[in-house]
Amino acid sequence: MSESVDTYHPGLEGVIAGETAICCVDQGRLLYRGYDIADLARHASFEECAFLLLHGELPTTEQLALFKQQIDGERELPGAVVDVLRAIPRQAPMMDVLRTGVSLCGNFSSAKSQGRSSLLTRAVRVLAAVPSLIAARLRVLDGKWPLEPKPGLSHAGQFIYMAFGREPTELEERVLNLTLVLYAEHEFNASTFAARVCTSTLSGLHSSVVAAIGTLKGPLHGGANEAALSLIEKFQSSAEARRWVEEALAHKQKIMGFGHRVYRNGDHRAFILEPYVDELARMRNEQWRAEVYHAIKETVWAKKQIHPNVDYPCGLVYHFLGFPSDIFTPLFVMARVAGWCAHIIEQHVNNRLIRPRSRYTGAPARAFVPLTER
Ligand code: SDX
Repeated sequence: MSESVDTYHPGLEGVIAGETAICCVDQGRLLYRGYDIADLARHASFEECAFLLLHGELPTTEQLALFKQQIDGERELPGAVVDVLRAIPRQAPMMDVLRTGVSLCGNFSSAKSQGRSSLLTRAVRVLAAVPSLIAARLRVLDGKWPLEPKPGLSHAGQFIYMAFGREPTELEERVLNLTLVLYAEHEFNASTFAARVCTSTLSGLHSSVVAAIGTLKGPLHGGANEAALSLIEKFQSSAEARRWVEEALAHKQKIMGFGHRVYRNGDHRAFILEPYVDELARMRNEQWRAEVYHAIKETVWAKKQIHPNVDYPCGLVYHFLGFPSDIFTPLFVMARVAGWCAHIIEQHVNNRLIRPRSRYTGAPARAFVPLTER
């Protein structure tokens, strides 16, 4: 066994912790299995992206139809799961409800082997369960019964139908699909790495996804889209926003939705999504809100030369689509579960237990002191 090299990288910054063929995150490009995110954002459905991430190739027409049929076939939740969604206290955050719901769904999933086809079966089950869990929870909170899935809708459209009891508008479906494509995968981000660590012990797919959900919830990671919107909602004017951000930065406060561990020249996904902020603001007649958005962004740049990440535009886009902010990060889960499952499957292929070392900074070795002498 190789001796551990005594180099310490806080937060594993810059450390190559494994190899992946799924995603390439660079300053100049973001690739899913070699395809540029700009092309996928322009041309692909989320279902095509999910298939690409899981199988390594874009689907043919027949493969896509079968994949969508498989997902549709798994959308209905077990009755006991719906009962729990009803029993969870109203004030529980949707991310916590989702963590519980996915874990509970795992108890109803018979497939247990770690073979590729069994993992793919469970991946489809979780892909289908996440939107159904979010939608069903929204319905029970509203005193309504969960809706049966409506055959033939897209993944994005099906969520809107099951959550809000109506067909999606073309705009809602197109924009939600875009955000799902942008959120689907991002190499060894914290939640994906958590899934791989859990998988490296040969634990099950549902356990790894639950570990990832818990990790994504944090405001330094996926929770930033909800936090970014609550920041924007603080202000009634750009001037007020500028003053607040300058004060916050002067006190070394982090502005949610800005910065990234890897990107230094900006987040490709934020550049792709940002035009929708202005388009939707115009449609909703909330241009002043977009002005606050830009004022915050300009002030952070002027003071710290830090770019927004994907969560900054996404929070406001979801607000303009009329989604409750409590589901913003769960929608991130709805997309990223595709990437997580692809990494879980990949981790199994050439697995080695992930177990880094630590540098000891505690008390030097010392003799035990009996209780009577302390
Ligand atoms: C996601 O990894 C992924 O790929 C994640 C993700 C994905 O798709 O999975 O892209 C999704 O999680 C995006 C990030 C969402 N989180 C936020 O928006 C929270 C706010 N951002 C920061 O907390 C921060 O930028 C991180 C956590 C994202 C990255 O932090 P790092 O790499 O540990 O950087 P750092 O905290 O060491 O900051 C370096 C410098 C510091 O300044 P100095 O002390 O050197 O003067 O940059 C400053 C920081 O103060 N800085 C910020 C800032 N982010 C960094 N200052 C103000 N506001 C910020 N948001």
